[in-house]
Amino acid sequence: MGENLIEMKGITKTFPGVVALNDISLELKKGEILSLVGENGAGKSTLMKVLSGDYPWGMYSGQIFMDGSPLHISGPSYTEKAGIAMIYQQVHAELDLSVAENIYLGRLPRKMGFIDWKKTNNLAAKVLKELKVDLSPEDNMRNLNTSIQQLVCIARALVRNPKVLILDEPTSALTESETRNLLDILRDLRSKGISCIYISHKLNEVFEISDRISVMRDARHVRTYKREEFDTKKVVEDMIGHRIDTMYPSMDGRETSHEVMRVEHFQVRHPNSSIKNIIEDVSFTLYRGEVLGLSGLVGSGRSELLRAVFGALPKRNGKLFIENKECHISDTRSAIRNGIGFLTEDRKKDGFVGTMNIQENMTLSILKKITTASFIDTRLEEEKVRQYFDSLKIKAPSQKTQIINLSGGNQQKVVLAKSLLTEMKVLLLDEPTVGIDIGAKTEIYKIIKELAEAGLAIVMVSSEYPELLAMCDRFVVIANGRVAGELKKNEADEEKIIRMASGL
Ligand SMILES: Nc1ncnc2c1ncn2[C@@H]1O[C@H](COP(=O)(O)OP(=O)(O)OP(=O)(O)O)[C@@H](O)[C@H]1O
Ligand SMILES: [Mg+2]
Repeated sequence: MGENLIEMKGITKTFPGVVALNDISLELKKGEILSLVGENGAGKSTLMKVLSGDYPWGMYSGQIFMDGSPLHISGPSYTEKAGIAMIYQQVHAELDLSVAENIYLGRLPRKMGFIDWKKTNNLAAKVLKELKVDLSPEDNMRNLNTSIQQLVCIARALVRNPKVLILDEPTSALTESETRNLLDILRDLRSKGISCIYISHKLNEVFEISDRISVMRDARHVRTYKREEFDTKKVVEDMIGHRIDTMYPSMDGRETSHEVMRVEHFQVRHPNSSIKNIIEDVSFTLYRGEVLGLSGLVGSGRSELLRAVFGALPKRNGKLFIENKECHISDTRSAIRNGIGFLTEDRKKDGFVGTMNIQENMTLSILKKITTASFIDTRLEEEKVRQYFDSLKIKAPSQKTQIINLSGGNQQKVVLAKSLLTEMKVLLLDEPTVGIDIGAKTEIYKIIKELAEAGLAIVMVSSEYPELLAMCDRFVVIANGRVAGELKKNEADEEKIIRMASGL
């Protein structure tokens, strides 16, 4: 290590009304893992899109060198040839093609001019096996969940034998074991001399894997830390520009005895199989003002269970009661009508309408409430939106900014606000803080606390144990499609939950 593979010098990039990158210089050494951290909207993805050729030469100012020679990047195919591969924050995949086709897209093996499908599938199977992904190369991409799609994108980057691999929040959709696996792969690549740029909001991963950490704030490069200088507190303070005192609010003093929702004997089909069930038989009760943590291991069906409660996924069996009255929820509209709100884990696919602005997206679910005689009361709409636009610190020139122009984390804040705006009795939160920076996370915890205090009943799925343990009053742990046990806040710790979730 020591020699620079990539040097970015004085990079500046603006969008209408926004300076996304302000005179940034950054070096990447050979065979190192460099992490890029910063709050939502700091400019991380934009900087990497400059390096990957998504914003080609001429769309930014500044210079990029590779092995000492200047790069005049004309587009992604240029960088692919140069050996720079990028895994995007939002899955970039051809959903109607197979897994193998996605992996070898643009370079399918040929035999006498024809595509050699057998070889394509065999090669793809081999890479998938190296990545420990249990998947057939012939599977259709559309039928896979986000985490598997993300792994296919990683496979696709790897078969191009890159010199530089850029990963923009690769683990935000991955489960714990998939994450561990990916980190091992990165270490392995490093030992082969491949350099990685790793973007993540999960600071524990960042500190674990990185050789160096660069902090960005407000379009600028603040500081780069070498391994021996790593200090969580300092990095976080550099990220947010000030000190933070407490991460989690106190959740004491709520009364949680009035039953709001009861789920009885839910059975839900496995997403990748028509014969298997992912949830066999799960029942639980939810009380007013309570935050219930739904825990379980990889693929335990937590998300599927939430989706089934919300009517987004059909259930095979089971009954749902709201305030002791049975509800027949056949689709998401009837769920909303019955007072159930849902924040989906997959915000890109299910979360927002790309052609609308922030405000229009946020109020989609409350259109009826802000409409009089088929006119939208824009004053009321603006007022409702302003509340969350401010408290969640959404980074955008105005609440009329097109959502597509926001950074990934800020898009998620909009989707969160949308589900918070609906009037509900029950709120289902699937990974509410994934991809969201540390400052906005504390705001979200505060909002969850306030909602619970106002009497909302909340179910939360999260792969981050610290937040789960801090926020939840009670845990229902799922293993093998059934409830493996229940823990109260004062009985629960990470180890106990994991043991229970493993069926021990
Ligand atoms: N296509 C675009 N048009 C207008 N503004 C944009 C566009 N892309 C990004 N921006 C703005 O540039 C800034 C930097 O965004 P970027 O996506 O690089 O942030 P990020 O650090 O990756 O954040 P996150 O952690 O949320 O992913 C943000 O203010 C964002 O709104
Ligand atoms: Mg980003």
